Amino acid sequence: MRTDTSPPVRLSNYRPYPFVIEHVQLDFLLEANKTRVINKMTGKRSYGEHALMKLDGEDLKLVSIAINGLAVPEDQYEITEEGISIQMPVDEFILEIETEISPETNTQLSGLYMSGGRFCTQCEAEGFRRITYYPDRPDVLAPFDVRIEANKAAYPFLLSNGNPVRQGNIGTERHFAEWSDPHPKPSYLFALVAGDFDVYNDSFTTISGKETPLSIYVDKGDSQRAAYAMDALKRSMSWDEDVFGREYDLDVFNIVAVRDFNFGAMENKGLNIFNSAYVLADGQTATDTDFEAIESIVAHEYFHNWTGNRITCRDWFQLCLKEGLTVYRDQEFSADMRSRAVTRIKDVIRLRARQFAEDAGPLAHSVRPDEYARIDNLYTATVYEKGAELIRLLRTIIGDTAFFAGLNRYFDTYDGQAATIEDFLNSMQLSTSEDLREFARWYSQSGTPVVSATGTHDTIARTYTLSLKQKTEPTPGQTDKKPLPIALRTALFSNKGKRLTTKLNGNSDDEHLIILRDTQQDFVFTDVSSEPIHSLNRGFSSPIRLEDGLNDANRSALAAADNDPFAQWEGLQTLARNLLLDMVGEEDQTDRLNAFIDAIDEAFTAAIDDPAYAALILRMPTVGELILDQAEANPSSLHTARLKLKRAIARHMESSLVATIQHSETGAFDPSAEAAGRRALKATAIDLLSRLHDEHSDRISSSFHSATTMTEKLAALNALANIEGGSQSGEYFDAALTEFEEEWAEAPLVMDKWYSVQAMSVRQDLRARLQRLCARPDFDLKNPNRVRALAGAFAMNNPVAFHAPDGWGYEFLTDLILKVDDLNPALSARLVTSFESWRRFSADRQIHAEKQLRRLDDANLSKNAQDIITRALALSSN
Ligand code: TRP
Ligand code: ZN
Repeated sequence: MRTDTSPPVRLSNYRPYPFVIEHVQLDFLLEANKTRVINKMTGKRSYGEHALMKLDGEDLKLVSIAINGLAVPEDQYEITEEGISIQMPVDEFILEIETEISPETNTQLSGLYMSGGRFCTQCEAEGFRRITYYPDRPDVLAPFDVRIEANKAAYPFLLSNGNPVRQGNIGTERHFAEWSDPHPKPSYLFALVAGDFDVYNDSFTTISGKETPLSIYVDKGDSQRAAYAMDALKRSMSWDEDVFGREYDLDVFNIVAVRDFNFGAMENKGLNIFNSAYVLADGQTATDTDFEAIESIVAHEYFHNWTGNRITCRDWFQLCLKEGLTVYRDQEFSADMRSRAVTRIKDVIRLRARQFAEDAGPLAHSVRPDEYARIDNLYTATVYEKGAELIRLLRTIIGDTAFFAGLNRYFDTYDGQAATIEDFLNSMQLSTSEDLREFARWYSQSGTPVVSATGTHDTIARTYTLSLKQKTEPTPGQTDKKPLPIALRTALFSNKGKRLTTKLNGNSDDEHLIILRDTQQDFVFTDVSSEPIHSLNRGFSSPIRLEDGLNDANRSALAAADNDPFAQWEGLQTLARNLLLDMVGEEDQTDRLNAFIDAIDEAFTAAIDDPAYAALILRMPTVGELILDQAEANPSSLHTARLKLKRAIARHMESSLVATIQHSETGAFDPSAEAAGRRALKATAIDLLSRLHDEHSDRISSSFHSATTMTEKLAALNALANIEGGSQSGEYFDAALTEFEEEWAEAPLVMDKWYSVQAMSVRQDLRARLQRLCARPDFDLKNPNRVRALAGAFAMNNPVAFHAPDGWGYEFLTDLILKVDDLNPALSARLVTSFESWRRFSADRQIHAEKQLRRLDDANLSKNAQDIITRALALSSN
């Protein structure tokens, strides 16, 4: 085991930077192998007698350093692995530092690097220090002026943050551009792009009447594929004005798509940089899921302009201040653009799959942790998704009026500053009479609370006493859990399925908001004439796990009766989850299975006018969700149970599923939520029919060949990949793959899908297939999209193979991590998180997983990967 891990960064050690940077002038002389950066910082001492000025820097070559025009002698500064310390002899200074970097050899995709022959940057969280020496921390804000100089033919477009100032030629071969960003910003929001592009142009007139040119820069020949992203951007700008009262604040707004990128996108001020997967789309090459992701990520990055950029984070412990709030805002945007219920269901599916799993394992941490080892590893589902749930919960608790008043106060008070969660909550506190002190605990306490419910009806008193308990299991480093304020939207139904109007705390209503504050609490409803069935946590009002205390009959009654689509869906999911877990056991579950199928069929038939929702009714909990409810989980037996359930549904609904498939789209491609819903339903029908062995293989194969959209093509291809117990489908699958490859070999984003389908398939020869895929020339370890298409899809979405009892899945992933780590530590660390639930599996699997984790631990990997490995291997606290 490695012992040289550096001590963690602690929130309690926060100190303000002792100098102020009043202005930054950056000059870039761009060359692929040797770029010169001249960084002129104007500033002053801000407090104390600090003689040493420490600047962060990594992989930089210092050329020169001067203070107020005088070269700094060598004995006046010291360079280390982490940066430079300079003796600052004056109170006010112009510090000019020239450095050299090599973008060409930067494979980490952090700092200034090259992607597809173009220069681009990624500075969050700590990439700016790989460009120049600087106080690379989010609480140092300064206005930046940037001058870029480069070869004109190779790099005709030169972009940076803020507003364009001027551009011109230098001789015949070179040119320059100057940009000025008047809004003081931290270094992580800096961006620079240089290269050749096609540009998709449009404009947006802001609410105060300012016409703002908008441009999206993409690969040559791809400009039409940016049309949807542009449309999403304009809708985002307008929605943020309407709903949050936030207007755009620069003369231009630019988005650049790059192929090699570690995340989805980055909100650099005025110059968002995107993973091309979240910009480029048309009906032929992108699925409806891609369109949905583009809409939400374009919105997310745009919304950061206020929640993140105008008000930024004081330190990285406050990451959820910008991310949780911005995810909340993009979720609300999607809900307004599409179906609110369907959006909410998808958000909850995602939360359960990623965040609940994180909370239940060795990587559990709070939304605002108080220490971290590596900042890149803090960009987690907990910070993002649970962070968003907390904003939603806060709004539920204090109500819409107080919520928007509090937000406006937050914007007014902290505009132009670097703030904390306490600042945010204080703004909210000043707008509500609710005491938010206990709510704040949600930010510091990790783990998913489990709420359990029982109810007692008193016929004579006509009361219903709902007894609620909450408990949060210990998590690493946090054994003592305190009660949290948990908001539960609650309704009572009669056993005939009628929603009851009852009284709670003097209010008569058919839905009540309960706030469970203590470990155990009773809530007494009056005016309850007959034994009711309770429906709790409606709309998923709190991010908890619920043990509702109901039986199957109660839940079926609720599912049949509920007029709230989320509650109905959740009721059916709970039925399915319990049934599936019991199907793994010995006892015969035929009667329950049949009853469940009737409930599904009934709900499906009622939902048929809303195909997107109907498709979700037919969705069964995944193996990944089920393992959270099973000790010593065995993915293959969960998979078998799930297959059996899906097979039974398919058999029962066979004719209507076939009819759904035959109903095919005609006319021009329509990306709307309605049309996407119809395609989602069709995809679900194909998936279910593919569970009937080879019986529908012909139909699915011809659906592949006749498909006119990528959504339909991929649905058929996925179905062929997952047919078990037939040989015909195997031939169809290989033929379809060949045809797909011939058509799309030159389209990397489409080929990513081709890789993923295979990585998620259940075909017998999977291990050999994956090895062949890894050996292909287009399997580029430097391209995160490609690596994730194969390894991410395999580890996250093929639980049966990844957790194969002989351990080959773990070994395969480990081999890949060992190759990726040297090139891209952020990516390899991400891949290691696939092991996060390893202790939840059966003993044989744990042995294999631990063996591979030890192999990684012995390999002297990057600090990012080592951080995850160490935490994954640590003895669990519970
Ligand atoms: N702030 C970005 C977002 O939420 C994500 C991000 C963080 C990121 N670190 C990154 C993107 C590193 C790319 C690389 O959208
Ligand atoms: Zn974000």
